[in-house]
Amino acid sequence: MINACVIGWPIAHSRSPLIHGYWLKQYGIDGSYTRRPVEPASLAAFLADLPQSGLAGCNVTLPHKEAVFGLVTPADASTKRLGAVNTLFLRDGHALGTNTDGEGFINSLQSSVPGFNITNERAMVLGAGGASLAVVNAILEQGASEVVVANRTLEKAEQLRQRFGPKVLPLVWDEAGDQLTECGLLVNTTSLGMKGQPEVGLNMSRLPAEAIVTDIVYTPLRTKFLVDATARGNRTVDGLGMLLHQAVRGFSLWFGVTPQVTDELHDLVARDIDPDYKR
Ligand code: ATR
Repeated sequence: MINACVIGWPIAHSRSPLIHGYWLKQYGIDGSYTRRPVEPASLAAFLADLPQSGLAGCNVTLPHKEAVFGLVTPADASTKRLGAVNTLFLRDGHALGTNTDGEGFINSLQSSVPGFNITNERAMVLGAGGASLAVVNAILEQGASEVVVANRTLEKAEQLRQRFGPKVLPLVWDEAGDQLTECGLLVNTTSLGMKGQPEVGLNMSRLPAEAIVTDIVYTPLRTKFLVDATARGNRTVDGLGMLLHQAVRGFSLWFGVTPQVTDELHDLVARDIDPDYKR
């Protein structure tokens, strides 16, 4: 029996058990994946105990992604650049930390938009928080020529430039609409548009018709941001794909099978978000 879990604080609403539970059943693996509440004060003790805990590893979610980075060995250069961990696994009795959010973001786009490629293209990312970090890093790793980061708090966008270099162009929020010309990709990484939050409210009239628009918010599945982009004729990709695709590598590391993100899995999680969901 192989065990894994997701740690966070709070953790009750995590959909990761639904995703990994589906795959465990699908591939007939004798394993478990559970939610484990870990409060910030207990994080170091949890990590110290991990090699002896009987767990093969775990996912790490809010608010622990950056704290865990400071407490374990990063498994790869991309995670080192990012400074945040969402997946832990054991090697030779030692916990290693990696981050699958960026590949989740890119693989979601590639599976929804065949031939998706932003090499030498300009992208705009709305927001400069934790989610933005992974998205900006992934876009740069794909070879984008520049990434405009528009944020309410300009200093946070400037910090992304310090971290990732001069291809990141910080921008004040109010100028975002004007800078959409020549963007091949537009991403919302803010919490705007989430149930109970104000809408993004961006004027997209300058966005090229060929640009792809995606939102990392997936509650609701079809945010107003995506509905507006679709109405203009842009191709859109919802945020659920990133959640599903970021789970793939952890499952493979712990359980030894690289799982498929199927339509059936997408619809299972979509119905958990919205019981009335129809493909
Ligand atoms: P996450 O880890 O999910 O990215 P976060 O680090 O709290 O969460 O970041 C939230 C993002 O949404 C930030 O870019 C935030 O802008 P600030 O850096 O100015 O706080 C953005 N955001 C949240 N509420 C917003 C609002 N009402 N208007 C504009 N941006 C908002």
